[in-house]
Amino acid sequence: MIKIIKSVKEMANFANRIKGRGHTIALVPTMGALHEGHLSLVEAAHNKANIVVVSIYVNPTQFAPNEDFNKYPRTLLKDKTALRHFEHITIFAPSDKELYPDTFDTWVEEGTISKKLCGKFRFGHFKGVTTILSKLFNVVRPDFAFFGEKDYQQQLIVKKLVKDLNYPIDVIICPTIREYDGLAMSSRNKYLSPKERKAAAVLYKTLIRAKKDLEGGETDYRRIIVGLSRLIGFEPLIRIDYITIVNPDTLIEIKEIKKEKVLVALAARVGKTRLIDSMIVQPK
Ligand SMILES: Nc1ncnc2c1ncn2[C@@H]1O[C@H](COP(=O)(O)OP(=O)(O)OP(=O)(O)O)[C@@H](O)[C@H]1O
Ligand SMILES: [Mg+2]
Repeated sequence: MIKIIKSVKEMANFANRIKGRGHTIALVPTMGALHEGHLSLVEAAHNKANIVVVSIYVNPTQFAPNEDFNKYPRTLLKDKTALRHFEHITIFAPSDKELYPDTFDTWVEEGTISKKLCGKFRFGHFKGVTTILSKLFNVVRPDFAFFGEKDYQQQLIVKKLVKDLNYPIDVIICPTIREYDGLAMSSRNKYLSPKERKAAAVLYKTLIRAKKDLEGGETDYRRIIVGLSRLIGFEPLIRIDYITIVNPDTLIEIKEIKKEKVLVALAARVGKTRLIDSMIVQPK
């Protein structure tokens, strides 16, 4: 039977008990509406630590005012069922009231990487992410924390948060799990109409095309990006927020492609749903 802890105090006591016995804790932070991508993180966490805490919390502070906070899927009982095959799992599903009482006004903000890519489109998003993660880290006191490569910029920021604030946590990144046609799994895929879902497959195709270009020896940033934008442009249901080739550590644009690995990153709106994807490529 999977235990669901809703109170911060109970979670902190539980973590203290576990650690007091010399056991390790792995934290898998999620916003719920669990899919195979999340389960792959849980599986990896399960292989690494004695106890896995899956936090399920739709964090209001990481949604900009114009975003989908109210309609975000909340499926706690279904999520519990999705986790039933794992042992030693605890779900931490705190309430807004407890995490953000009326007096709450202390924030954690990364100042460099969070300003790039999605940071330009989702105002305050990463500040909300680093703040809630700091709170979760303090309550759960994990030895390991698991994140997906799908949210590439987020995992860079998390590593920086852990380093800058000296959290004694080993951050582990797991590969992106995809649908049959390559679309990166995401809770927000649930929003897509059948037509939008079909059109969304072009995002992964675009990354594959970029990989081919780069591995084929193309070094001109502009030429590559124009080709990729055109490919996405064929899908009338999709609008690009950004598509770019950047340094995988700094997220700074690489205008002249050399031999070093690059990150091809994109964000697009499929209808009203904003999706992201990315791929590390080794140019030839
Ligand atoms: N397809 C995936 N493969 C691997 N990890 C994933 C995948 N999708 C999400 N994750 C990871 O799961 C963790 C929780 O993410 P989150 O709950 O935001 O899910 P999500 O699918 O990204 O939802 P949304 O699309 O609403 O942001 C993050 O570390 C995220 O990177
Ligand atoms: Mg997400």
